[in-house]
Amino acid sequence: MKFFIDTANLNDIKEAYDLGILDGVTTNPSLMAKEGITGKENILAHYKSICDIVPGDVSAEVISTDFEGMIKEAEELVKIAPNIVVKIPMIKEGIKAIKYLSDKGIKTNCTLVFSTGQALLAAKAGATYVSPFIGRLDDISEDGLELIAKIRQIYDNYTFDTQILAASIRHTMHIIGCAEIGADVVTSPLKPILGLLKHPLTDIGLEKFLADYKKGNA
Ligand code: E4P
Repeated sequence: MKFFIDTANLNDIKEAYDLGILDGVTTNPSLMAKEGITGKENILAHYKSICDIVPGDVSAEVISTDFEGMIKEAEELVKIAPNIVVKIPMIKEGIKAIKYLSDKGIKTNCTLVFSTGQALLAAKAGATYVSPFIGRLDDISEDGLELIAKIRQIYDNYTFDTQILAASIRHTMHIIGCAEIGADVVTSPLKPILGLLKHPLTDIGLEKFLADYKKGNA
């Protein structure tokens, strides 16, 4: 399973990359705004900074909702770096844009996916990644992980190359659940990724090992 970080914060991206386990980055307009990155030139420059840190796929989201606008933005975004993936919303015009871009060999990430039907359409259009938002489903009492499992089943029934990129991750158990189901990628904020490290018995065990070493080598 690939690990992406879901943030536009350069320090968090660097910290995850330095761990040696980071395969890519996803961003969205809300995450850019959270970092105070506004204005087209600044946003494009920020994507460049992210691509300079991480060699893996970096999703950059369009803000147009019409086919022509999305294609125009996509063509600008892919000029930033070879690892840019164009993130396109799951709407009718978005499906047309994904098909057009995938026919041209441009990588896409179909975002804001909340149902199996949407995931099926994204795959048919040739999306490189499909992003089901599991945390936002859990927020409204729907089972986000169950959606990942259903999409896995559908994609495995056929020969879709589209990778399931589980998004809207809230905690470590989302990551573990995705791994159990067989999601191709998980995109998570830094905190749940670091949360995977933790176990009290590890800390207790290490403390004892170090204390015993100290006693024997005083
Ligand atoms: C996906 O790529 C989105 O950027 C993200 O995972 C959404 O997460 P949220 O529901 O925490 O905003």
